[in-house]
Amino acid sequence: MTGLAAIPPDLLSKAGVAYVHYLSFMLCFGALVLERRLIKANPSKQDATLMVITDVVYGIAALALLGSGILRVLYFGQGSEFYTENPLFWWKVGVYLAVGGLSLYPTITYILWAIPLRKGELPQVSEALAKRLGWILNIELVGFATIPLLATLMARGVGLPG
Ligand code: HEM
Repeated sequence: MTGLAAIPPDLLSKAGVAYVHYLSFMLCFGALVLERRLIKANPSKQDATLMVITDVVYGIAALALLGSGILRVLYFGQGSEFYTENPLFWWKVGVYLAVGGLSLYPTITYILWAIPLRKGELPQVSEALAKRLGWILNIELVGFATIPLLATLMARGVGLPG
């Protein structure tokens, strides 16, 4: 216990925000993998409901990821200029926004599924739609896997001018 008390509180809050950043990243990635596994034409009621729930978890985790990222830039990192002056940081933000933009299509699709599901009916999912969603999820997974590489480089000052 004395060991824990000796840790400066600002270090603990930095670690806490970093933890939220990693946890939300894991949740986002896990949700995308699950959606990728579940997507198929004419899903069962159980699978379609699970997809809708998974996407809600993904959405909340993506917001927590963004929020904790912004907090790290502003208050819990190495000073905001350390990041904003690094093009790799903006690439990271750009890839995040691109993936977020791409996920609007699946998200709107699942929201529309919720309407028949609430009436106890099955959503109509064609082979073509399932294939399209599968590809979008593949691209999102690749995007998400690239971001930590940009992050680890950026965190070590790689890409900073001068
Ligand atoms: C726009 C959204 C984001 C912002 C503003 C942001 C910001 C940050 C900041 C400021 C750090 C701290 C770097 C340091 O230790 O000095 C960081 C670290 C990190 N971020 Fe993000 N982040 C965002 C999105 C993401 C996403 C989407 C992922 C994963 C897919 C991610 C993964 C990581 C990882 C793995 C680290 C640790 C890097 C290291 O310490 O080696 N971030 N992020």
